[in-house]
Order: sequence, then structure tokens, then C-alpha cells
Amino acid sequence: MRVRLLDLSEQYRALSEEIRAAADEVLSSQRFILGPKLAEFEKAMASYCGSPHAVGVSSGTDALLAVLMALEIGLGDAVITTAYSFFATAGCITRVGATPVFVDIEPDTYNISGKALRRYIEKYCQTVEGKLINENRQTIVALVPAHLFGLCCDMNEMLAIAGEHNLILIEDAAQAIGAEFPLANARGKAGTMGDAGCFSFYPSKNLGAAGDAGLVVCRNERFSERLRQCRHHGMGAQYRHDFVGGNFRLDEIQAAILNVKLQHLDSWSARRREAANFYTKQFQRVRLEKTVRLPVEPYAQTGLTNHHIYHQYVVRTGRRDELRQYLAEREVETAIYYPLALHEQPCFEYLEYKGGDFPEAEQAARENLALPLYPEISREAQEYVVNCIAQFFG
Ligand SMILES: Cc1ncc(COP(=O)(O)O)c(C=O)c1O
Repeated sequence: MRVRLLDLSEQYRALSEEIRAAADEVLSSQRFILGPKLAEFEKAMASYCGSPHAVGVSSGTDALLAVLMALEIGLGDAVITTAYSFFATAGCITRVGATPVFVDIEPDTYNISGKALRRYIEKYCQTVEGKLINENRQTIVALVPAHLFGLCCDMNEMLAIAGEHNLILIEDAAQAIGAEFPLANARGKAGTMGDAGCFSFYPSKNLGAAGDAGLVVCRNERFSERLRQCRHHGMGAQYRHDFVGGNFRLDEIQAAILNVKLQHLDSWSARRREAANFYTKQFQRVRLEKTVRLPVEPYAQTGLTNHHIYHQYVVRTGRRDELRQYLAEREVETAIYYPLALHEQPCFEYLEYKGGDFPEAEQAARENLALPLYPEISREAQEYVVNCIAQFFG
């Protein structure tokens, strides 16, 4: 049986008429950039997230980049982020001229560790005139946690640390649209708990466009206006550029398609969660739940529906590469998110981290394996995947 890692063809078939009509409407209007479809999508996303402002941009990467540029973060600044995420989380920090400072992850959630973050600050930083200065005399200005695989970071801890040290808190919510978190005194939604939240609509995301697209949510109106300007080359009045931005616009066809798909997002995420729970039960059936480390659901008992949106179902084993090969031979597609921790990326050699600096991130990179998961995956396919894994461990 062939099991694809991700297969959205059934989803497209169900919506194809609506999606084609939406794209056709844009083509007929000949209004391709910064038009009504984008305005509609921004309004819908602001309402979906429960955030006052939403600014559509050209990708999740550009969402991060535009936020950092709009904040004028750059040379001499340092930005703390996780040692384990998709490259863009750290790449954007470097692109604005700032230095990424990595912090290790929690081994069960793969998200940035609050404890490790506090340890770094205590050991290497001091507060000088209200600013947090690190061992390289850089000013730490911001904190960028990423909510990996559809599970929010411990945002109570991130908010506390950001508050204590006056850091801007930028959530990389590219993989966590709609995911909820039990804040100390409220229900938090990914992207809306910090100062700005960045989303990606890369086609494989829970809400995927037909190409690249992204969005930023924020609370501050002036900042949202600055972001709008930033995505349009910093232009204020026509052809008058108040600061240097970029072309980070989300186009009308993508926005029109996203408007159709957004209405189904929560039901898709629910189906992903059901499929994830089915995997977990199957692993228990074959008594592999200890041999293979399964995803955790730390917020499952909090009453939040979207406590995990399962962008990925990631398992761990020390025999990852062998298992992956075994599954590939049985036509089961898998993926490794990600084979290198960020400090192990060749482009970050100049930061002079070494092996062992972030042991949890390094080990995750050696052991992680993402199994096929999408809303329409059949239980039969999932059983087949787990049976193959059971055969492997024999
Ligand atoms: C955690 C994370 N951050 C940032 C991005 C960048 O998003 P995009 O691919 O839309 O540029 C992604 C998407 O792949 C991601 O998974």
C-alpha cells in the first residue's frame, strides 16, 4: 500500500469549484495586488485569531522578515530563538543584520525550553540601563519562539521572560495556525499572545495557499500600519518611501483561495487531531508506545479544543534512519523535520557554536521522523504504517 506523507487532492476535489470560482473572479476583475480579496482575508484572519490587526504578506518567511524590519532590528542587536525549527526562523534574524542566539528545546515538545532560556540569561547576560546585554556586547531586543508541529510553546513562560527583560515577543506561528494555549488567565491563540505573530500559508500547512503566502497579526494599530508600509517598500504617499521595506505583498488570487479554505480550517485540524489520536492508539495496540516516542499533548486536559493542531505527527527513535528506509521500501513516505539543528547549519558556522551546545535539539535532529498525516488520511493507511513499524521492531 502506498501512503503519501501528505495528499491534499481529496481536499481540493471537494472545494475545486469554489476555489476556481474565487480565482476566476480575481482574473475577471484584473485586480491582482492589494485589492478586496486581501482586505477580506485580513479581516477574516483577524477575527479567526481574535487579533485586532492582520496584515497579509508574501510568505511566512516574509512575515518574520517584515516584522523584524518594521521594528528596525539590525546590526548590534541579538534575537533569542530556538535551536530547532525551520531555517527561516533564524535566517530572517540574520538577514536584518542581527545575531541569532539559540536556546535548546524541551525534548518532548520540541519547543524552546523556558528553563534553558533562563539559564542562558542568568549565565551570559546582564542588564545595563534597562537593556539586556549578552556576552558579545550585543543588545538582546527580541525573543522569537516557534510553535513547532502544531503545539504552542509554553507561552506563560515566554511572556514572563519577555516581560522581565523588556524583550519584544514575536511568535513564529507558521506551523500552529489556530492552536490554543492555556495562558495563566485566558485562552491564548497562536500568534496573538506576543507582540506579533507570523503565519505561513505554504501549500502543505494546515491552511495552505496555491503557492506562497503569509500573514502577521498584532495588537498595536500603529505597528500594523508600519507593517503595511513595510510590505510595500516602505511607501507612504505615492512613490514616497519613508523607510526601506520590501515587496512582501500577498496577491489577490492567493487571498481569494485562502478565503475559501479558511472556513474549513478548524474541521481539518480536528480531523488531523483525530488521525493523530488514532496513530497513538495503534502504537499502543502493537505495544510500541515506549519503543517509539510519541507526540505529547501537554494541554489536552485544559478544555481547549485546538490544544494541538498536528501540523505534523512526529515520532522518535534512535533507529530513525533504518526505520525510514524500511518504510520507504514499503511505500510509506516519511520526512525529517529537521535533520540539522540550527546551530549545525553550515551558514551559521560563524556563530561558533559547537556540537553538544544544544544536546536536545541535536538529538531530536537525529531521531525525529514525521509520519504521513493529513485530514483525509484513511485509518487503513494509518494501520498499515503502524503495522510496518511494528514489523520493523519485530
Ligand atoms: C516554523 C516555520 N517558520 C517559518 C516558515 C516559513 O514560511 P514560508 O515557507 O511560508 O516562507 C515555516 C514554513 O515552512 C515554518 O515551518
